[in-house]
Amino acid sequence: MAAKKKLLILAGDGIGPEVMQEVKRVIEWLALRQKAAFDVEDDLVGGCAYEAHGTPLADKTLARAMDADAVLLGAVGGPKWDSLPFEKKPERGLLKLRKEMELFANLRPAVVFDALAEASTLKTELVRGLDMVIVRELLGGMYFGEPRGIEALPGGGRRGVNTHVYTTAEIQRVARVAFELARKRTRKVCSVDKANVMEAGVLWREEVQKLRDGEFPDVQLSHMYADNCAMQLVRNPKQFDVIVTDNLFGDILSDCASMLTGSLGMLPSASLGAADAKGRCRALYEPVHGSAPDIAGTGKANPLATILSFAMCLRHSFDMAKEADRLEAAVKTVLAEGLRTPDIMQAGKQQVTTRAMGEAVLKALDKA
Ligand code: IPM
Ligand code: MG
Repeated sequence: MAAKKKLLILAGDGIGPEVMQEVKRVIEWLALRQKAAFDVEDDLVGGCAYEAHGTPLADKTLARAMDADAVLLGAVGGPKWDSLPFEKKPERGLLKLRKEMELFANLRPAVVFDALAEASTLKTELVRGLDMVIVRELLGGMYFGEPRGIEALPGGGRRGVNTHVYTTAEIQRVARVAFELARKRTRKVCSVDKANVMEAGVLWREEVQKLRDGEFPDVQLSHMYADNCAMQLVRNPKQFDVIVTDNLFGDILSDCASMLTGSLGMLPSASLGAADAKGRCRALYEPVHGSAPDIAGTGKANPLATILSFAMCLRHSFDMAKEADRLEAAVKTVLAEGLRTPDIMQAGKQQVTTRAMGEAVLKALDKA
């Protein structure tokens, strides 16, 4: 029998542990029904890691992540750690994981489930049937560019500096992911930049176009400025299929796209790296939402984004499309049955807790 796949779970802070608990129950369900068994390890990241080790990502944890077949992350951060120095902040733990695991492509699907089309703040007809993906570059641009820092000015006052920088190789490797993904969808990519203002944006546009012309002539490519894209996302989101964009624009536009679906609590994501020496593609899966410290421990958190992130993990890292389909179908079933956590609550539906939502997903899996 093949060795069990290694899954590292980093539940993190705030609602992270609560939503992850429901994923663990899905994992147990898969093992009990002999669909799949994983070698599951738990570890700390973010504020909880800082409390335990004085750093948001211990070396030992990073080593485990590098060794795992996939990492599943909950959320990091909270007001308790807001005043820590930059390097100790919970978010640095996540950024370090991305950097060290070389997770350069972040896939953020925004899919509107039929049962939730009316939960969107946008008009139902604008969002019904929406199915798009933002491919966000995750290792470059403003987030990691040098120089960076805050310095004192001789005459008093200070100067904060960050650098927006991209190379051909960084642009092309993420664009390639977007084009390959588009081939499995409707062969349409929109590349988003600020080529009207930034040199790095001019380069972005040229390199994406070059790659398309050279290797993906079958894919239709358009370009859009980031500000226009933000506007188009709320004006007519269904014009998009695959969007590829840089780190900072991707961060902002994916929050915007997520809200089209009714709630940030519904959106999964996958961060993918290059293949390692064993031919495995490093990967980390996490919900797009944050740690929501204001509702942590109250049973109000929506576990579906994390459950759907695990479905992405089954599909991309473990080649278990059947189980992934089944899990996604179970989520659709509970929504169709009218179960809602508070973030997606609508009149006439039944409000349930995090735990009850997880339980309903298991029941739906049983029936599927
Ligand atoms: C995200 C988050 C992170 C980011 C934070 C927590 C560092 O907002 O994954 O979108 O800015 O990338
Ligand atoms: Mg973000």
